[in-house]
Amino acid sequence: MAQKIRMNDGWRFAPASPDDASKQAVFVTLPHTAVELPLNYFDETAYQQAFIYQRHIDWTDQMHDHEVWLQFDGAMADAHVSINGTQVAHHSDGYTPFRARLTPHLTRGENLVTVTISGVENPDIPPFGGRIDYLTYAGIYRDVWLVTAPKTYIEHVKIETPDAMEACKTVLARVSLGGAQGAAGGTLHAVIRDGAGTTIAAQSVDVAGDAPEIRFTGLSGMALWDLDDPVLYTLDLELVTSAGADRDVTSFGIRHAEFTAQGFVLNGRVLKLRGLNRHQSFPYWGYAQGRRSQERDAEILKHDLGCNIVRTAHYPQSPWFLDHCDRIGLLVFEEIPGWQHIGDETWKARAVANVEAMIRRDWNHPSIILWGVRINESQDDHAFYTHTNKAARALDPTRQTGGVRFLTDSELLEDVYTMNDFILGDFEKPDTNRPRTPLRPVAETTGRKDPVPYLVTEYNGHMYPTKAGDPEQRHAEHTLRHLEVLNAAYGDPQISGAIGWCMADYNTHKDFGSGDRICHHGVTDMFRNLKPAGYAYASQQSPDQRLVFEPVTVWARGERNIGGVLPLIILTNCDRVDLEYGGVTTRVTPDHDRFPHLPHPPVIIEARHLSKDALGRWGMAWRDGLLTGYLNGTPVATRRFVADPVPTQLQLCADADHLDAAAQDEMRVIVRGLDQAGNLLRFLNDTVQIAIDGPARLIGPDCVTLSGGAAGFWLRATGQTGQAHITVQSPRFGTARLTLPVR
Ligand code: GAL
Repeated sequence: MAQKIRMNDGWRFAPASPDDASKQAVFVTLPHTAVELPLNYFDETAYQQAFIYQRHIDWTDQMHDHEVWLQFDGAMADAHVSINGTQVAHHSDGYTPFRARLTPHLTRGENLVTVTISGVENPDIPPFGGRIDYLTYAGIYRDVWLVTAPKTYIEHVKIETPDAMEACKTVLARVSLGGAQGAAGGTLHAVIRDGAGTTIAAQSVDVAGDAPEIRFTGLSGMALWDLDDPVLYTLDLELVTSAGADRDVTSFGIRHAEFTAQGFVLNGRVLKLRGLNRHQSFPYWGYAQGRRSQERDAEILKHDLGCNIVRTAHYPQSPWFLDHCDRIGLLVFEEIPGWQHIGDETWKARAVANVEAMIRRDWNHPSIILWGVRINESQDDHAFYTHTNKAARALDPTRQTGGVRFLTDSELLEDVYTMNDFILGDFEKPDTNRPRTPLRPVAETTGRKDPVPYLVTEYNGHMYPTKAGDPEQRHAEHTLRHLEVLNAAYGDPQISGAIGWCMADYNTHKDFGSGDRICHHGVTDMFRNLKPAGYAYASQQSPDQRLVFEPVTVWARGERNIGGVLPLIILTNCDRVDLEYGGVTTRVTPDHDRFPHLPHPPVIIEARHLSKDALGRWGMAWRDGLLTGYLNGTPVATRRFVADPVPTQLQLCADADHLDAAAQDEMRVIVRGLDQAGNLLRFLNDTVQIAIDGPARLIGPDCVTLSGGAAGFWLRATGQTGQAHITVQSPRFGTARLTLPVR
């Protein structure tokens, strides 16, 4: 039987040409970043060099007469793998998986694997050659697996569900066998099971050739995969040949997804897509965070931010992330690596290979509804994009293609016109006369009279960078811009939806960002703390899913220009808000006039809602305020704001109540400075000291400064079990403690 063992431990790591003795080899655990970066103001060329990872692989009896390979889920950016001195793999893409076949080179005893990684931005490899607004942190930054399989094995399976909307369904498994011996004379057993492990159907076929197919028809009682109920099944394959038995278990879902000129349709109903772009980077360790961090990002997008779609800008992201999108019901638009620049023919051939590698890796994810087959924001290129589209359609005719452009009148070779529409920034440019416009009319963008499937794939971003600790007025405007675009997308039935730029702030090159090597474009900071604009998305969920009540204010007399807190935006899915101030109650309902198309427009308290000087004037005493949210006449949320906030509590919030030792799990801990009413002190810049005791290690420095009133850090389990004691100390708040079992 085949075996797949995680090989993340015990790698000896060193720069290929250390410039000083202190950079000699150390032992590391994967996922690993070659160079740990400070939070900001670093030199991004630090990791643009070569590194060497080495590890021994011991011979086991299981390897005899078997195929053995190492599977790398991702290594940045150009990897050479050798075993016992012989090169066995070369992979020139930092985002797709690859294998190093060890079989003929293994000796009984110890075998030395050497992986040389170049982090250089080699112009022959996408996305490099131009400038890119993100970092490509060098290292073996995803998991590595040692696979031992019989000489004839299951290479991969593609599962198709062609009649998802019929009562009785078909499941088609297109299997591809690998191995030197061919598969004559074998048998393939296939079992479909539901989430509880109950068998739905089973079948066996005789294998002739290396691409057997199994078709299950007339399957009744199978449920659709949908956002609220992402039902998954597994296909369990067992291949039995004279070479032995191999097994593959793949999860899949049944759904019908289609972009039409009248919007996006999921399982027969029109669904407005509301989403954010995600970079897979984290502070300090860049790309090298493992399973739990990847899964948590999907949860933040779905639950904390209320999104129904994410775009994996601008490359195929972690399999852990995609698996979790399947499990929690978050749609995905996945795309190939690239950013504005198209290279020469060799480079283009690599981009086509990336299309194929992305689709082969991910074609069984029900969450993925669109393949991005253009280089993000590149110019039209008829031959190149004819090629990428053809490659995608040949491998997976069950999904549509898109290709993200910022061009109007661009040649539509894809199925969906996917457009980065940054027009909302234009009204501020001196040379444009356009009034404030959230989105361009679709026909203006496509240059076509006939309607086509259309999706907005970016907006805002660099048009209005906003730091977590920025003034309240800027956050109010940042929030309004996101709301205006969402409202426009909801208002046009032809627009399938809008995916904003972006989920979280991210580290970047000197050519972008705020000089600090950060693009502060997120609706969260780099630790995934929500900025007010994050609640613009979150509040569009139904209150049954999550009640959202977030006033965009620090509640102060003198924070805004001219003073006061008006207009006061409350991002909420409540249907009424009461403000109590100085003994007077003011009742305000959601602003349907300004945002007629949003599921849940914000409540905006303006001067017109209040009697003159109801909140007093400059020079008068500033008082506490109370905001209460109602649903159908019942109070469901309150926020009390104090006139005299003082630092009162240092709050520590961990994402989960324990760590998994075996998985070398990661956990995020958020630190917040709160006032006596429990509100975030947005302008508190205190420094805190972090200490970890027990079987977990801190990712990043042990001394951090709050920004926007909050900070965060991640822990990684060391592999031992016990209790991880976390202490966070601050001169002002004293010590906050948290203990997490590591099981
Ligand atoms: C887009 C680009 C993104 C990001 C964004 C910032 O042009 O596709 O990667 O740079 O701008 O707003």
